[in-house]
Amino acid sequence: MIFYFSGTGNTRWAAKALEQQLNEELIYIPDVMNGDCKFRLKEDEMIGFVFPIHGWRPPQIVRRFIRKLRLEDVEAASHHYVYALCSAGDSIGLAMDYIERELADKQLQADAEFSLIMPESYVGLPFMDVDSKERETAKKKQAEADLAAFIDDIRNRRTGIRKLKKGPIPGFFSGPVGGFFEKHLITDKPFHVVSSRCVKCGICADVCPTHDIIGGLGSEPQWKHEGDCLSCFTCYHHCPHHAIEYGGRTKHKGQYFFGRTRR
Ligand SMILES: Cc1cc2nc3c(=O)[nH]c(=O)nc-3n(C[C@H](O)[C@H](O)[C@H](O)COP(=O)(O)O)c2cc1C
Ligand code: SF4
Ligand code: SF4
Repeated sequence: MIFYFSGTGNTRWAAKALEQQLNEELIYIPDVMNGDCKFRLKEDEMIGFVFPIHGWRPPQIVRRFIRKLRLEDVEAASHHYVYALCSAGDSIGLAMDYIERELADKQLQADAEFSLIMPESYVGLPFMDVDSKERETAKKKQAEADLAAFIDDIRNRRTGIRKLKKGPIPGFFSGPVGGFFEKHLITDKPFHVVSSRCVKCGICADVCPTHDIIGGLGSEPQWKHEGDCLSCFTCYHHCPHHAIEYGGRTKHKGQYFFGRTRR
């Protein structure tokens, strides 16, 4: 069973490859988050957690999901092969430590942990933008090779694997910087629509994983401001007219997403 989250599609690409090559059931976390999060595992079934990195930490929705997760017969579950795979634009810091702590509360332990470096999706700070086309292509090519090797590790149930690109001073970035990021930069408050460019197609509302956008189809989108936004920028990146801005920080910036819009 693979539990995954993805905004702009990078992680979905990896999760789908895992699904197809390992013949595993794929579950999109936002689809099940509001249910009881109870799952029955087949005998010897692997458990995968697949997610992007947000501010050198796993996205809050992923951590909340693991806290809610109920795997039937925890004792048996603890004998299943467990892995965590994340995608990031550059470096993950100590993000996997956060996952390990959540898993430990469920009497689970990751046998293998991996990070893939994928195209950048964060554009919410003045100095951040999407990658150049060349860089995007190079990252995807490398990610394809890395993912094939990771899938081989998982298929063979190799344990003690830690193939992680932590980057410099990982404790600092995941700790104080990540804390600041979560507190001040995970918010939908700066989102607004430029009326002259919006054609009211509804795509932004349709792609939002947390249903944080009211309207869109037939009316201009409005963000709910109820604390559900993950700042994944999926709405921004999918707008066909670049009509969504984040304060003044996304003017003239690029857009990016990987693969089909919908699951
Ligand atoms: C809110 C947010 C924060 C991010 N923080 C980081 C980060 O700390 N380190 C990093 O390397 N990439 C970071 N990224 C880039 C994403 O991790 C990367 O593009 C990822 O592959 C996106 O996955 P997705 O397309 O499945 O949503 C961030 C992206 C977003 C939207
Ligand atoms: S995706 Fe863009 S054009 Fe379509 S409704 Fe949303 S803001 Fe308007
Ligand atoms: S409103 Fe936009 S940034 Fe926020 S969760 Fe939805 S798609 Fe992501």
